[in-house]
Amino acid sequence: MSENRTIEPAGALRGEITVPGDKSISHRSIMFGSLAAGTTRVEGFLTGEDNLATLKAFEAMGVTIRRTGQTSLEIAGRGLEGLQEPADVLDCGNSGTTMRLMTGLLSGQNFFSVLTGDRYLRRRPMKRVVGPLIAMGARIDGRAGGEQAPLAIRGGDLRPFAYTSPVASAQVKSALLLAGLYVDGETTVREPSLSRDHSERMLELFGADLKPFAGGVTICGRPRLKAREVFIPGDISSAAFFLVAGLIIPGSELLIRNVGVNPSRSGIIDILRAMGGRIELIDQRSPSGEPVADLLVTAGPLHGIEIGGDLVPRAIDELPVVSVAAALAEGRTLIRDARELRVKETDRIAAMADGLNALGAKVEPREDGMVIKGRERLQGGKVASCGDHRIAMSFAVAALNATGPVTIEDTACTATSFPGFWDVLQSVAGK
Ligand code: S3P
Repeated sequence: MSENRTIEPAGALRGEITVPGDKSISHRSIMFGSLAAGTTRVEGFLTGEDNLATLKAFEAMGVTIRRTGQTSLEIAGRGLEGLQEPADVLDCGNSGTTMRLMTGLLSGQNFFSVLTGDRYLRRRPMKRVVGPLIAMGARIDGRAGGEQAPLAIRGGDLRPFAYTSPVASAQVKSALLLAGLYVDGETTVREPSLSRDHSERMLELFGADLKPFAGGVTICGRPRLKAREVFIPGDISSAAFFLVAGLIIPGSELLIRNVGVNPSRSGIIDILRAMGGRIELIDQRSPSGEPVADLLVTAGPLHGIEIGGDLVPRAIDELPVVSVAAALAEGRTLIRDARELRVKETDRIAAMADGLNALGAKVEPREDGMVIKGRERLQGGKVASCGDHRIAMSFAVAALNATGPVTIEDTACTATSFPGFWDVLQSVAGK
């Protein structure tokens, strides 16, 4: 899986690109499409490794999913009660979303299932979903007292439940909403600030009875979900690499077409604009209940800012590439309230601080974030992706503006969320 890559400094980035479909929405299209009655058609599906893990898990539970084009699918929904006991362990690969959301869904099934994943995923915390799901009535066990996968689940007989999550996590919220589909009565999830709301939007699209309120959401169990057409926009988390690249490489002007700009995900635009970045949203529209726009980014000087509070869950996956922008901004940037970065695909605070410092940046890691003192250019060197797709792509962006070549170790992981990343980068870099 290794595959090192050396990136040469690049000139201005120019042109027009699209990025692959949104990873979070792609997972949910398979899940809700499988639970609906009728055939769901999906356009813009992300065929990255994470989403394929979800797709295979549903096939293993008896759902027929037809690839009708490069990014289009037809899902023959089996209804809420239509899933079958899988004959083998379900492998979630590197995908935390697959594992946590499936733990919720499987808690509602009258059968036995086991979830596992790769060595990174098997280290990640699962009690945050296992705990409340056990309180709803599911029987779940796993390594380290249920904290780590493999997880063994025997579902069924869930009771109405209200839960206040200590973390703003869409994976926790969505796991409980999925379990809540199988409850006779209401399930309520409260969170400290709003995490991405793709589950809520898609559940509503499919006809579920949902009551969002300030600080949380309630779902009524046993809805009849109906098949829909789902148009998945480009992933703002993937666009983020090109937004930052377009800002930090002098003379760049890039148009990124068809990007999801759901307010619970668009913190990266607010952050980069607050740093002085020029990003324009063009032709805003909203197919399938998700806001979409084309993004025009124009290079220009950035300055340091403070990032914390409600902004953090709205930009959680983009903070690694924000740290690259901050390393090349004038002055100091403080990222706080982002302890969650420590338990992502890798410890993203440590991974970015180590790599950026190896390229001559001044980054001080903190327990819940980092302090970054900007400079004009980074230097060449060697950095480690730690097997984490977003770390690998963040360093690729940093490399474009370095004074010498940067070697990134272990870059095959970019296929997790952005197959074709290197080709897209090459298509616009240094022209
Ligand atoms: C995701 C939620 C976030 C995010 C992850 C995808 C989702 O995780 O980091 O990449 O699709 O629900 P948390 O729920 O752990 O914050």
